[in-house]
Order: sequence, then C-alpha cells, then structure tokens
Amino acid sequence: MKIAVVTGASSGMGREFVLQLGHFYHNLDEIWVIARRRDRLEQLQSVSRVPLRIFEGDLMKKQVYREYYRTLLDRKPDVRMLVNAAGFGKSGKFADIAEQGKKLQTDMIDINCRALTRMTQMTLPHMERGSRIVNLASAAAFCPQPGFAVYAATKSYVLSFSRALRAELKPRGIHVTAVCPGPVDTEFFTVSGELKGSLKKLALVQAPAVVHKALKDSRKKRAVSVYGVQMKAAFIGAKILPHSLILKAEEIFIR
Ligand SMILES: NC(=O)c1ccc[n+]([C@@H]2O[C@H](COP(=O)([O-])OP(=O)(O)OC[C@H]3O[C@@H](n4cnc5c(N)ncnc54)[C@H](OP(=O)(O)O)[C@@H]3O)[C@@H](O)[C@H]2O)c1
Repeated sequence: MKIAVVTGASSGMGREFVLQLGHFYHNLDEIWVIARRRDRLEQLQSVSRVPLRIFEGDLMKKQVYREYYRTLLDRKPDVRMLVNAAGFGKSGKFADIAEQGKKLQTDMIDINCRALTRMTQMTLPHMERGSRIVNLASAAAFCPQPGFAVYAATKSYVLSFSRALRAELKPRGIHVTAVCPGPVDTEFFTVSGELKGSLKKLALVQAPAVVHKALKDSRKKRAVSVYGVQMKAAFIGAKILPHSLILKAEEIFIR
C-alpha cells in the first residue's frame, strides 16, 4: 500500500498538501493525516481525491504517536512522502511571551522541532528509494528575528536538520526538501498574532501557490523551496550579508 503522511493537515498548508498530493502522485492508496481537530480532518475527507486515514491527536502528547506507530506496524505501508507541516509561532518579545504563558515558548520548540524529528524517526524505516520528506521550515530560518526569536530559532533547526538529513539519505535515494515561505495567508496568524509591518504584509502569499511550488521542488529533488521574488531575495541576502546588518535593517523596515 502506497501512502503519504501529512501532519498539520487540518488547516493552511498541511490541508493544501493533502488536496494537491492526489494531482502530483496518481498511485497513492491513502493519505494519513494528523492534527487535533477531527471535524476539520473529516471535512477534508469529503473533498480529497485520495482516501484519508485520520489520526486525531496532539503531537505534544504520546497517544497519537502510539496509534501511528501501531498502524505502521500493522499496515506496513510504503510511505512515498512525509510532509511535516504541523507547527505554530508566537510573535512578541521573548520576555513578554513568557508572561503570557509559561509553556508557550517551549511548546513552540516541542511542536516545531521535537514532533517533526519524532515523526521523521518513526516514518523513515517505512520509506524506500524514491520517497520524499518535505519539512515546513520558514523564511524566518534564514537569520535571527527579534520579536519572533524562538520561532525563528525553531525554523533554523528545521532547515539545518533537513539539509543534513538530505545528505545522509542521498545514498538511499530518499529526498528531503525544506520549505521556506515568507508570510502565507493561513490560520497561522490567529495563533501567532496579527501580521505586523508593511513589508511583511506586502509579501503575504496564498497557500495553494506555496504548496504547488514545494511539491514541484520536491519532485526536482531540491534541498530548499522558496516561493516568491521577495523571499528569494531574503534567502540570498541572508547568505551574503552579515547578520548584524540584517538585524539593523529588520529594526528599521520591518518592525
Ligand atoms: N503561515 C505562514 O506565514 C507560515 C510561514 C512560514 C512557515 N510556516 C509554517 O508552515 C507550517 C504550517 O503552518 P500554516 O501556515 O499552515 O498554519 P495553520 O493553518 O495554523 O496550520 C497549522 C497546523 O498545525 C497543526 N498543529 C498545531 N499544533 C499541533 C499540535 N500540538 N498537534 C497536532 N497538530 C498541531 C494544526 O492542527 P490542529 O490545530 O487541528 O491540531 C494545523 O493543522 C507551520 O510549521 C508553520 O510554522 C507558516
């Protein structure tokens, strides 16, 4: 049985991956979807081209991993693609976020880094030559972001981990792509706080276009998928400019 696995499938880019995967891969028997909101996953089932298997649960708790692991052992699927899209961000100064909730910052690390790593570790034994891993990093991974400090750091982890894993898995013919979008119009901002800064607002793009590019880049075995001219410029800028200079520019133009 050939399957894809998508975490964070109940909204935004994860949901969009589920909708587009059936167009990109015609031989998928099922897509396994993971998120907390079952009603959203059931709604997705009614519009997906490919049958879904729903795993309802919180990726910060053990239960959903147990169910996923048992089902992997039981069904022995050939996982053609793993999309790690579950994640969230909280914007604001580090000390202020800490005042809003003691666990907010560490929860960000748990879901964006630990859950993604754990899902990859559990799924990899079920992946064969030609399969793919797509990890949702962010343009926030390119350099430190005051006002989004922990989130940007978690996404740097995702980008760094994805690049290293890609090198390790190359001999096995498993291809890893890190997706690094700028602001995307999803429910992300209801959790993170309103999108601030006119440059960021100008850069806002739609999820279907970002996901379409990500799936194309994954097919082309690209290491990193960056959508849009502005984010491509940011990607190159972060490579050639000193981070101290970028931090100054962020202070003037973005916040
Ligand atoms: N939107 C942006 O501007 C942007 C830009 C760059 C990168 N990203 C990254 O892209 C990924 C997808 O974000 P999005 O924009 O599509 O946001 P979104 O619409 O808020 O989707 C986030 C998804 O993650 C799931 N999720 C969150 N916490 C979870 C938990 N504890 N357990 C299980 N599932 C959980 C949510 O499902 P439930 O709530 O149903 O559990 C939801 O399906 C994230 O990793 C985000 O950091 C977003």
